[in-house]
Amino acid sequence: MASTALFFLSFTMPCVILAAPVADNSSSLDTQSEYNSEAVFVYPSQADTPSSAATADASNSSSDARPLVMAYYPDWTSSQFPPEKIDFDYYDWIDFAFALPDESFNLSWDDPETAPALLSRLVDAGHAGGTKIKLSIGGWTGSKHFSDAVSNDENRHTFVKNIVTIYEQFGIDGIDIDWEYPGHKGDADNTVSTLDTPNFLSFLRLLRSQLPTNAVITAATQPAPFVGEDGQPVNNVTEFASLLDWVLIMNYDVWSSSSNPGPNAPFYDACHNSTQPEANAVGAFNAWRDAGLSPSQMVLGIPAYGYLSNSNATSLRTRSAAARRQAAPIRLVTDEDKSEGQILFRSLVSQNALVLNVTSSNHTVFEAAGGFTREWDECSSTPFLRSPDVGQVVSYDDPQSLALKASFVRKVGMLGVNMWEVHGDTDDCDLVKSVRTAFGYEAEDSKPAVQ
Ligand SMILES: *[C@@H]1O[C@H](CO)[C@@H](O)[C@H](O)[C@H]1NC(C)=O
Ligand SMILES: *[C@@H]1O[C@H](CO)[C@@H](O)[C@H](O)[C@H]1NC(C)=O
Ligand SMILES: *[C@@H]1O[C@H](CO)[C@@H](O)[C@H](O)[C@H]1NC(C)=O
Ligand SMILES: *[C@@H]1O[C@H](CO)[C@@H](O)[C@H](O)[C@H]1NC(C)=O
Ligand SMILES: *[C@@H]1O[C@H](CO)[C@@H](O)[C@H](O)[C@H]1NC(C)=O
Ligand SMILES: *[C@@H]1O[C@H](CO)[C@@H](O)[C@H](O)[C@H]1NC(C)=O
Ligand SMILES: *[C@@H]1O[C@H](CO)[C@@H](O)[C@H](O)[C@H]1NC(C)=O
Ligand SMILES: *[C@@H]1O[C@H](CO)[C@@H](O)[C@H](O)[C@H]1NC(C)=O
Repeated sequence: MASTALFFLSFTMPCVILAAPVADNSSSLDTQSEYNSEAVFVYPSQADTPSSAATADASNSSSDARPLVMAYYPDWTSSQFPPEKIDFDYYDWIDFAFALPDESFNLSWDDPETAPALLSRLVDAGHAGGTKIKLSIGGWTGSKHFSDAVSNDENRHTFVKNIVTIYEQFGIDGIDIDWEYPGHKGDADNTVSTLDTPNFLSFLRLLRSQLPTNAVITAATQPAPFVGEDGQPVNNVTEFASLLDWVLIMNYDVWSSSSNPGPNAPFYDACHNSTQPEANAVGAFNAWRDAGLSPSQMVLGIPAYGYLSNSNATSLRTRSAAARRQAAPIRLVTDEDKSEGQILFRSLVSQNALVLNVTSSNHTVFEAAGGFTREWDECSSTPFLRSPDVGQVVSYDDPQSLALKASFVRKVGMLGVNMWEVHGDTDDCDLVKSVRTAFGYEAEDSKPAVQ
């Protein structure tokens, strides 16, 4: 989870609704030659013995289903990107990140001075704009006490009571449990137990019984299902599915900064040689579906950021397409002014490593500039930037790769996408517009009714 604090120097304007060119289905993607078409949509109904359920979902979900568009709002962006600046016309749900379970199984905040007021403002602004708001609990650095908080009946009652209190206090529409990760250590200080996953289930059962019936409860998860007592992903999540409205599959941070970088958010293991073959959108879809989660309860997490690496690599662990060189080499810095780490898509644009172009294929295309070349990693169906002049590589997602993921989501009948995070997009909302276009929304479409 991208939970590090980010700092921006420039004040940003909200993205405005523009009449973007719209394709009425996802097939215009197929005119793009850069990605490996074998990777697109064929796989889930092909080699790895898909269940008939997934095939049925795919067959009738692409025409009229309108997947949901969602994003996280991290509280540390507020000084540069106040909640009122979010263009709620584009989002069905926004998740406020984060409330943090503390050692007494209550909830605390990154910044107790500002976060509660910020959440109230997000709820007011979101509801005025017709967008529902969830409170996300946990995150990478906020998962320290989850294991203890769910470990026995008494703790669970305390934790649930405190969550219900905050749910009612802020008038939110749902709770997102972002425990990274049940049964896995995660961050260094986290408590962990082999019983985390069954305890998590007991906690969710109690939470479901105590929250109002219309409260939405979701979990943000790894691409693989929760780890069971034997340390392996459980093969049956149907009880979780009966308690959760949906599962957000965090398909990002698969590879981070490295001198030998890999893709941040692979779509598919198209070359069949990834050392993490399930850590991609298609693999995660299959793994959760095979464990009994309906596609209609799956949300694909998509990144509005990439990873900047000091690297002379010419590919992301795979071959790369030829691309032209450009003049005036620039050196990128991350959003924390470092030479390596996460970098928002908007920063790639504001630092002029990417410049907007629009092609006839109806996708907003950002070309590389400033000495970078944009290349396409066939193995993950994601782009990367590299500059031999300054020895930097950026693995990232752009409107093209997100449209590909969104088209997959629509085709297989997943519920929607959730982007980490809303401020990573450009002022013109190029990323979320690309997703919406792939979902079949017209630029002027209002949001569908949310349950
Ligand atoms: C929609 O899909 C159909 C069938 O794949 C194709 O013939 C048609 O050209 C597509 N329309 C657009 C606007 O992409
Ligand atoms: C597809 O159709 C089947 C049978 O009518 C239905 O049960 C299922 O819910 C549909 N799936 C979606 C995603 O609409
Ligand atoms: C939980 O924390 C909040 C502040 O975040 C506080 O107002 C409340 O009293 C605490 N609840 C309990 C039971 O300690
Ligand atoms: C999964 O678990 C549920 C509930 O315990 C059970 O009813 C179902 O039969 C299980 N499914 C499989 C495939 O084992
Ligand atoms: C990239 O190559 C340059 C020039 O050979 C070298 O100075 C630099 O250390 C290399 N960077 C990395 C990360 O290996
Ligand atoms: C994976 O396969 C691709 C395509 O065959 C190849 O170019 C690449 O070198 C392979 N990567 C690894 C790590 O073996
Ligand atoms: C922008 O896209 C057009 C159409 O594909 C192309 O001809 C042109 O070279 C592109 N411009 C840049 C700067 O890449
Ligand atoms: C977008 O696609 C539609 C249908 O394929 C086409 O008529 C239209 O000209 C395209 N728009 C742009 C800007 O290329």
